[in-house]
Amino acid sequence: RAMMHQDIESILYDQAAIQQVTAKLGKQVTADYQGKNPLVICVLKGAVLFMADLVRQIDTHLEMDFMDVSSYGNSTVSSGEVKIVKDVNTQIAGRDVLIVEDIVDTGRTLHYLVDLFKYRQAKSVKICTLLDKPATRVVPVQVDYAGFKVPDAFLVGYGLDYAERYRNLPYIGILKSAVYQLKQ
Ligand code: PRP
Ligand code: MN
Ligand code: MG
Repeated sequence: RAMMHQDIESILYDQAAIQQVTAKLGKQVTADYQGKNPLVICVLKGAVLFMADLVRQIDTHLEMDFMDVSSYGNSTVSSGEVKIVKDVNTQIAGRDVLIVEDIVDTGRTLHYLVDLFKYRQAKSVKICTLLDKPATRVVPVQVDYAGFKVPDAFLVGYGLDYAERYRNLPYIGILKSAVYQLKQ
């Protein structure tokens, strides 16, 4: 069992829980995308660990690409603007796109990306997120595959950061409020 980092209040989802839900999502995606050769797009950086585990649970041909979109910077609150830091290298037109995210919060990032890939004439655009935080949604987003519905707490680990830290934790935990209050 992983030792808890001193900045973590409590562990919400441990490695076993993440593995179990990822296997379930992988089965659903496998069934839905048979013969479609989906383009699975990881939203950097937060989704990188989930992407790596999810694709190993998908049993169809697929292609992977990576897009870096950032809206938070080093703050705990969304700035509201989405910027492309790195675009995909793959032609989107005619492709079945599956966007892989770590968390949907305000929905701004995914709303922007879904619009972008539709504008680029994807055949279909779906979303697979490990975590969904519906309480903080500002922009509507249709989440097709979601691992866990999460409470409105500051979550870190398994790709999720605070000021670029904690992405490497193997579990998802609640950050102690003293950590971000100190640095603001
Ligand atoms: C975080 C998270 C999602 C997005 C969700 O990314 O990984 O991509 O915010 O928030 P939203 O629904 O309010 O748009 P961030 O912009 O912090 O970049 P990162 O993945 O590199 O940490
Ligand atoms: Mn992100
Ligand atoms: Mg972030």
